[in-house]
Amino acid sequence: MKGRKTMKIAAWNTPARRIDPMTPSPAPRVLTLTLNPSVDISYEIDRLVEDRKVHASAYRLDPGGNGINVARALTRLHIAVHAFFVAAGETGALLEHLVAKQIANPHCRHIAGETRINVTIEARNPRAQYEVIGVGPTIDDTTLDAIVGDVVALADDGYVVLTGSLPPGASAGTYNRIMRALGPRVRVVVDMQGEALARAIEAKPFLIKPNRYEFEEFVGRALPTLDDVQREARALQATGVTHVCVSLGADGAVLADAQGVRHAWPPQVDVQSTVGAGDSMVAGLIAAFAQGGGSAQALRLGLACGSATAAQPGTELFDGAEVQALAAGVDVRLLAPAPP
Ligand SMILES: Nc1ncnc2c1ncn2[C@@H]1O[C@H](COP(=O)(O)OP(=O)(O)OP(=O)(O)O)[C@@H](O)[C@H]1O
Ligand SMILES: [Mg+2]
Repeated sequence: MKGRKTMKIAAWNTPARRIDPMTPSPAPRVLTLTLNPSVDISYEIDRLVEDRKVHASAYRLDPGGNGINVARALTRLHIAVHAFFVAAGETGALLEHLVAKQIANPHCRHIAGETRINVTIEARNPRAQYEVIGVGPTIDDTTLDAIVGDVVALADDGYVVLTGSLPPGASAGTYNRIMRALGPRVRVVVDMQGEALARAIEAKPFLIKPNRYEFEEFVGRALPTLDDVQREARALQATGVTHVCVSLGADGAVLADAQGVRHAWPPQVDVQSTVGAGDSMVAGLIAAFAQGGGSAQALRLGLACGSATAAQPGTELFDGAEVQALAAGVDVRLLAPAPP
């Protein structure tokens, strides 16, 4: 996986950072949804040795799941965010505790089972990362009905972020169903892949942010050049997705809206670990739109947040104080104007 073998580790075992008091913001409400969250445990070790005990030199615990990550990133941008997630059993209680330390407005529905635990091992010698992903609790139809009701009640008429894998038991049409229940007043932001993405696109979201691979999978062919990406982004935008942003890793991103298609290269950073770059970019895009910006500002802030996270070690996210200056340095160019 990208960037994972070259990862450096931060000083760990430090207490989880408390969030700053939120700057009052006139921006509309942003709600993130996490249906398949996790407690993420990371260990730093020297090396894995078969049949031997290995002692960690550092470890950390984080709340996991893409929606929770986007909420953490929005908090760093001083955007008031509400994070809805499900929690189950003893691990779920720990998850709630970890979320409350980092997000000002958590909303939790307790479900049956046990929230999953994901384990990451960072080895220094040789440098490598190992990941074991757990299996989350199954969500049955009755629980899903209740969750749809929760999301509609919490959504207000701002932004709802639908991102991350679906839990066992939830069909690929789950996000599409939530979007239809939310109705057209809510601006839905979608970051997912495969059949779930295809079904969500049918419900015409406000913004989608696939990476190149996810977009190629959706389109059904390889898109090796920027021109290929921009043509397909424009074609999809014309079907009724208000903003189509395709992130291209080190090649930046394109963003298609009704005015045309823009591209920008990412700010130059010393890349350490790209884990969390996509979630950070989604947060940057939303923050710019929620504060009244247009596509060019959104692309600048999205790229700045993505790349600033790529410059951090491990799962650490960008520093909120640095991204505005990075965003100001991003040069956005119009690749293709809107068709006449
Ligand atoms: N190698 C890199 N160099 C500079 N910036 C990067 C790099 N990788 C990612 N980024 C930044 O992060 C943004 C999102 O990256 P990417 O396209 O890899 O998203 P993603 O695949 O959805 O990420 P994730 O794996 O976190 O879901 C990029 O547009 C860019 O701003
Ligand atoms: Mg992604």
